[in-house]
Parts: sequence; structure tokens; C-alpha cells
Amino acid sequence: MHLVPAREQRVDDVRADEARASGHDRPHGPYGTAVVFVTFEGLDGSGKTTQAELLVESLRAEGRDVVATREPGGTRLGEQVRGILLDGFEMSAWAEAALFAAARAELVHRVITPALDEGKDVVCDRYIDSSLAYQGIARDLGVDLVLELNLHATRGLLPDQTFLVLVDPDVALGRSAPFDRIEREGAEFHRAVDKAYRALADMFPDRITAVDGAQPARAIAEEVRGRLRDLS
Ligand code: TYD
Repeated sequence: MHLVPAREQRVDDVRADEARASGHDRPHGPYGTAVVFVTFEGLDGSGKTTQAELLVESLRAEGRDVVATREPGGTRLGEQVRGILLDGFEMSAWAEAALFAAARAELVHRVITPALDEGKDVVCDRYIDSSLAYQGIARDLGVDLVLELNLHATRGLLPDQTFLVLVDPDVALGRSAPFDRIEREGAEFHRAVDKAYRALADMFPDRITAVDGAQPARAIAEEVRGRLRDLS
């Protein structure tokens, strides 16, 4: 494990399976535990947003300072890009990947990095793994290339821990309305994204924890909080 702060790493130094290597030299929260950068991933309708909200609630209840954000969006530019990506017209797969990466670059620069530098925890609803699953695998652009693009965009900033909320893709599809441009891709695409996420969890076992989204929301939240405690 190298101890170069994540933001000073070169893309070639970064391994996407590695919890953010700069953990030892990061600021500390009110309870003496290192600040955390946590992301939630899953299909539309998986319940990941609820889990992100419950984690924020639980960290705040412990007195921690938490910044909650989401992708695509979270900044003025990001919200505009979100509109183009989700409400707009058809576009090529690389244009889509590049727009998601642009929104992410802005979010890292303006929101996530400043918050971590101030000693705040950051909980983000979707991040790099969404691009790896949707654009890298389901759209077939290639995980390595999409990862490389995103490591440039984020200056190599990876989450300490990513929770992947797994549900039956057909159940998730039934829950996610109204449809945005990507959700309108239909059942086959959803199943491809589900498989993609499961493949990512196998590729990056240290960073990604899969949780069973069929459990009651509070039970999943307990599991998430427990896993973070184990890691700290
Ligand atoms: P999101 O707002 O999270 O939708 P929901 O709240 O319904 O889960 O994400 C919008 C869509 O964008 C979603 O279908 C996933 C897709 N997406 C990508 O394809 N790549 C990305 O990098 C991101 C962040 C999202």
C-alpha cells in the first residue's frame, strides 16, 4: 500500500480495488476516526438512495460532519449536464461517458475534495462504479478505458468503501418510474447493468461490499454501518 495522498497520485499508481490509500494522512472526525468517503451503487429502483440517506442520518447522529451529494449532479454544471444526459436526445456512448466524467470532475473539484480536506465525511449516491457498470460494461466501452478516463477526471480519488445494493433487476425495474433516458433502455439493459455491477464487486472485493437489497431498509443500514465500523 502506498501512502501518497490520493489527489497526488498519478493515474498509473491508482488501483481501483484499493480503499483510498491516503487514509493514514487524512484529517480526523470528532470521534478520532478518519473521515470517510462512501459511495452507494445499484440499479435504478434498488433502494441505494434510501441507504445513502440512512447512512448520512446515522453518521450525523454520531456527531459527524457529513456532506451528502449525488451523481450526476451536485454542482451547477453537474445539474445541467444531468439534464442533457437524462432528459435529452440520443448520444454516442463515448459522449455519454465523457459527460458523466465531466459532471464527476466538477463534483470532485468543488464539493468532495474540499469537504474531505475540511475533515467532513462524504456520502455520494453513485460515483465511478456507475460509469464502469453502465458505460464500461453494459455499453461495452471497456472497464479499463472508462476507469482511466474517470481517474483523470477525479485526480485518482476513489471511495474508501462502496456499497452495492443488489436486487432482482426485474423488481428494480418495476420500482423505478418515471423513466429517464437511460432507464428507458428497458429490461435487457437493466439485466446487463446488474451483471456488470456483480462483476465489478468481484473485480474490486476490498473496496466494494455487496448488500442484499431485499432485506428491510433498516437492516441493510445496520449492515452498512457495521461494515464501516469494522473498517475504521
Ligand atoms: P440516478 O439519478 O441515480 O437515477 P435513480 O435515482 O433513478 O437511480 O441516475 C440517473 C441515471 O444515470 C441512472 O439510470 C444511471 C445512469 N448513470 C450512468 O449511466 N453512468 C453514470 O456514471 C452515472 C453517475 C449514472
